[in-house]
Amino acid sequence: MTTTASAHPNIALIKYWGKQPVPGNIPATPSLSITLDTLESVTSVDEAAEDTLLLNGEARSDAKIASYLDLLRQNFDVPPLKIETSNNFPTAAGLASSASGFAALTTAIDQHCDLQMSLDQRSDYARQASGSAARSIYGGFVALGEPDWIAEPLLNSEEWPLKVVIAITDTRQKTVSSSEGMSRSANTSAFYDNWVTTTREDYLAAHVAVRNRDFDQLALLAENSCLKMHAVMTTSIPAMIYWRPATVACIETIRGLQTDGLKVFFTIDAGPQIKAVCTPEHAPQIAEALSAVPGVMSTTTVGLGAGARVIAS
Ligand code: DP6
Repeated sequence: MTTTASAHPNIALIKYWGKQPVPGNIPATPSLSITLDTLESVTSVDEAAEDTLLLNGEARSDAKIASYLDLLRQNFDVPPLKIETSNNFPTAAGLASSASGFAALTTAIDQHCDLQMSLDQRSDYARQASGSAARSIYGGFVALGEPDWIAEPLLNSEEWPLKVVIAITDTRQKTVSSSEGMSRSANTSAFYDNWVTTTREDYLAAHVAVRNRDFDQLALLAENSCLKMHAVMTTSIPAMIYWRPATVACIETIRGLQTDGLKVFFTIDAGPQIKAVCTPEHAPQIAEALSAVPGVMSTTTVGLGAGARVIAS
């Protein structure tokens, strides 16, 4: 009997970029994110003669999934599995498909194999597969920090129902994985140490901004965290420059909307897409403005969503 779980991607407002030089995929920076609705990974698992993977309908082999299954099998009784996963958004194009994918996979395997994991354990295991996946276990505003590096829910999606307008500027897959990019930054960017130190301060300040629902303060912190992370990426050797002309044009458009008094800020991950976080009443105007930017292929407006959950078993 198949077990199916769903999880949504999340977007970090305070970014995770860098790992500690210890086992267990421990981030070098704490992070704070929002889990989205609408976009989702749906993952089904069932017993099989050997491990197989279908991603968006195509047979694949995936080293990250294989080593994650190895990790689970060191601690639990997990038989060979047939895994089918699909995303209703572009895979590996800066929209965090690994976050929703591993959160959904962990949740499906937990239920299917009766592993009886707590939410903390699911977050802990998901993080070992992909740091950002730890956060997609929960909905709404989520923090991931010291000392345990297990996600902590801060506010649920109804408690501060912001919207996110995503402007797609390029759907090609990224060529450098996050793990490789992070190690390149740690080894070569002159700004890396400062990034790690200041992100700890930003994280604490963002906690306060979220608890107070202080949009302007969160906007300042989130844009600064994004720009600092991209400063580290662009000063890594070789440089990782994720922005397209349309990405920069979207930033300028958002700056203009801020000057007009709209509650909106931008964030960008390891890809060229731009995400405009805003209050609900301003979302239609922001979507219209970003759709008109040359090079923007499409926009999607989403809200904040729930954590990973089993949807069929
Ligand atoms: C830029 O979680 O994909 O999206 O732990 O190596 O799988 P791994 O990295 P991953 O990195 C996410 C990086 C980011 C920022 C963030 O989501 O915090």
